[in-house]
Amino acid sequence: MKHQQLTPFPEGFLWGASTSAYQVEGAWNEDGKGPSVIDKASFSDSITDFTVTSDHYHRFQQDVALFAELGLKTYRFSIAWSRLFPQGSGELNAEGAAFYQRLIDELRKHEIEPLVTLYHFDLPWALQEKGGWSDPATIDAFEHFAKTAFELYGDRVNYWLTINEQNMMILKGDVIGTLPPGTPDPQKTLYQQNHHMMLAQAKAMIACHQMLPQAKIGPAPNISCVYPASPRPEDVLAANNFTSIRNWLYLDLACYGRYNAVAWSFMAEKGYLPTITDAEMAILREGKPDFIAFNYYASATVGAGLPADSDEEASRQLVDQQLAGIDESVYVGTENRYLKKNQFNWYIDPVGFRITAREIYDRYHLPLIVTENGLGAFDELVAGNKIYDDYRIAYLSEHIQQLQLAISDGVDLFGYCPWSAIDLVSTHQGIRKRYGFIYVNRDEHDLKDLARFKKKSFAWYQRVIRSNGQNL
Ligand code: BG6
Repeated sequence: MKHQQLTPFPEGFLWGASTSAYQVEGAWNEDGKGPSVIDKASFSDSITDFTVTSDHYHRFQQDVALFAELGLKTYRFSIAWSRLFPQGSGELNAEGAAFYQRLIDELRKHEIEPLVTLYHFDLPWALQEKGGWSDPATIDAFEHFAKTAFELYGDRVNYWLTINEQNMMILKGDVIGTLPPGTPDPQKTLYQQNHHMMLAQAKAMIACHQMLPQAKIGPAPNISCVYPASPRPEDVLAANNFTSIRNWLYLDLACYGRYNAVAWSFMAEKGYLPTITDAEMAILREGKPDFIAFNYYASATVGAGLPADSDEEASRQLVDQQLAGIDESVYVGTENRYLKKNQFNWYIDPVGFRITAREIYDRYHLPLIVTENGLGAFDELVAGNKIYDDYRIAYLSEHIQQLQLAISDGVDLFGYCPWSAIDLVSTHQGIRKRYGFIYVNRDEHDLKDLARFKKKSFAWYQRVIRSNGQNL
């Protein structure tokens, strides 16, 4: 459908931008904050350092003023669990709690709607030491943390996200997950952790509805459509398998309170089945989201095996987000020669964005919001503190066009929050992989002055927001 007449972005559409606590705040051990799994992780890439990041903790007022100038209607950020509870549970750290009070007040002052992620990869280290998500006690700790956040900030926060990219934490447990190196039976452990996280999420959704009837809450997985490597039925089946394992396992549990049948049979065949009880399944059925938030960077392409003429090495490099956790007996990631790639070897697929939004909406019929989408690139600071990131403008513009097409297709979409509001440290590729509208003047080893400079994309996004998506 070409839609000669496009449906406009709805009035009150939440144009926004996103960050996460551990990637932007810095101050990793200040004002009573406890360490998280990220602070203790030994990343394989030695350039990755999360101690100072973008120093947002100390500069949030300046940053929020810039977000206001950008015209953001909403700002998605996460609460560092171990800032509120240095031990993961127990006594509240008042100084940590006060930081988010100040941040939320500052956003409200500028009429920016806070969109709060409860948990974005940074499990408190104290909980990890006791078994992390393998220990059911972490479910209770999360519920308590979520209830505390609702109590503290619920009068000024209308939109909540439970867990960021739970599917990536399970599929890529070694990079951003909570799987200590050397864990025996890692896959089985991860799927048990997944079950516990699902319960934690359901309990948070139940508590949110009880405590804050006016608020809305939803999950925030990374969802991408999956193409078959060819029309060969075996390839189509492989794509279908991967879609269930990568996407629907997580959303079916969140929205329907049941395990996806294909994902369940995959886990059964592999010996990964979690231990579950009827009482737990009842909780999963009770905790329902009000909307679905999803992160999308690119599509994935898989087949039943590598095509004879494929570049095997290139296919094996496709192991980032889109093809996390390749299981060659069920699906094999392949190249997609119809798509271009970015500087970090990630595909660029705006049409896949429209397909993904339609697939989610068709399946769940819940309002959607995009909580991440963006282009990581080596931005260059040139004379006059300018950054000409035309490639990012092109990426975002093409994706926004596809979003409008999705809206014209009938998808109920109420917001778009690209990654990221400001430069921050990538999950595993350092500050050199930049996503922001605002440049942070530092590099991998030299913190310089951490000054903020507006990129070319800043003025562009400002126009997009002012025109409600008409002026791309
Ligand atoms: C998502 C995460 O997976 O993608 C973010 O929610 C992350 O935390 C983003 O930064 C981009 O990934 P990366 O690896 O380029 O930082």
